[in-house]
Amino acid sequence: MATTDNLITEAADNVLVGLFSDPAVRADPYPAYRQLRETAPVHHSAVLPLWVATRYDELRDPRFGKSDEVQRIFGSSAQSADREVPIISRYSMLRMNPPDHTRMRSLVAREFTPRRVDELRPAVEAMVDEVLDQLADAGGGDVMDVLAFPLPVRVIGELLGVPIEDREQFRWIVRDAAGALEPMASAETIAAAETASNTMNDYFRSLIAERRNRHSDDLIGGLIGVSDGGDRLSENELVATIVLLFAAGFETTTNLIGNGLISLLRNRDQMQMLRSDPTLGHRAVEEMLRYESSVQLDARTALEETDIAGHHIDAGQVVLTLLGAANRDPDRYQDPDRFDITRTGTQHLSFAAGIHYCLGAPLARLEGEVVFERLLARFPTIDADTTPVWRPSLTLRGLETLQVTVR
Ligand code: HEM
Repeated sequence: MATTDNLITEAADNVLVGLFSDPAVRADPYPAYRQLRETAPVHHSAVLPLWVATRYDELRDPRFGKSDEVQRIFGSSAQSADREVPIISRYSMLRMNPPDHTRMRSLVAREFTPRRVDELRPAVEAMVDEVLDQLADAGGGDVMDVLAFPLPVRVIGELLGVPIEDREQFRWIVRDAAGALEPMASAETIAAAETASNTMNDYFRSLIAERRNRHSDDLIGGLIGVSDGGDRLSENELVATIVLLFAAGFETTTNLIGNGLISLLRNRDQMQMLRSDPTLGHRAVEEMLRYESSVQLDARTALEETDIAGHHIDAGQVVLTLLGAANRDPDRYQDPDRFDITRTGTQHLSFAAGIHYCLGAPLARLEGEVVFERLLARFPTIDADTTPVWRPSLTLRGLETLQVTVR
């Protein structure tokens, strides 16, 4: 006979299947998140062999780390277990635990500094203004196509020192690579992600080789030369780090721009407030990140036996952390479904929490703040269809297109 616990798990798994596979649920995942938070905030799923957590406090638990188990589970329906682990997995800080993670992150952070980010501001402003000129001339256009996609790839290209003519090709390569982040991805998606990942590895390996022969001031040059008491990044660590910076900084920021703009367009009072008080820019970007996070889910592995919310989690078990659900946890945020750019102390989980907190957060914030400041200052009127098409992915939440008219 079915127990109450089994019934709760079955109902929660039905919600999960909707999130993983139904484009209509993904287009507006928040009712599904609410249901999970209210009925099964931490539950062990039978759909994928992992735990699912949806509440703010549990998602900040520091007793979790990284393992290859997540990739194995995400790709298990599509991948054979003996496939070679891509280089990015083995040498990327994203997949490491201390002490390896501590060492890698501090080496990289020596070069990817707040100063380097600040120095990019004039370039970001110039790039945004150039695109706004185009939009003004045309009376509007698809913001995703003309601004949200090209800007982050240009900025990250500028930071790293990727030749201008090479940058645009990465739009599709990075998008393919991101397919592997989706739970229950198809064999075709996983294969395309592997090809894309190999293309990036090859490209950056040869760019690094070329840079070793001539000094450059960009971040690639910096990372080649970085040293901490004689400790340096190995060739594989360099490739993995540069690919990670390039890929992590791209579509996430694209979606911050698209998701932020649609949130303003759907909440005209908030757009008006930001227009009349541009000093709210920083808080507005934080609220955009909380309300429509570009990264909706992440995963952690229990490094030791752990109890959370009355559930016992064995060492090695994986917990899927639904960041987008925690960002709307009513125990943490008053009126969480309200888009409110005056919120203070937001501390959303869109950049994750703990030791893997997004290393590129200052750059993403800079891009977001410049875009919305310049866009609103330039166009007194911005109109759009506020029921646009969302991309069918869950991990990275973003719009397919966002057609606007401007005056
Ligand atoms: C709105 C934009 C962005 C969002 C929402 C975002 C989100 C995240 C999240 C959730 C993580 C943690 C992933 C995990 O531990 O599994 C992360 C890590 C990371 N992000 Fe971002 N990111 C953004 C932009 C950027 C940019 C612009 C860069 C760099 C140019 C970047 C570089 C990184 C790196 C290197 C890590 C790994 C940190 C570590 O493992 O210690 N991100 N980001």
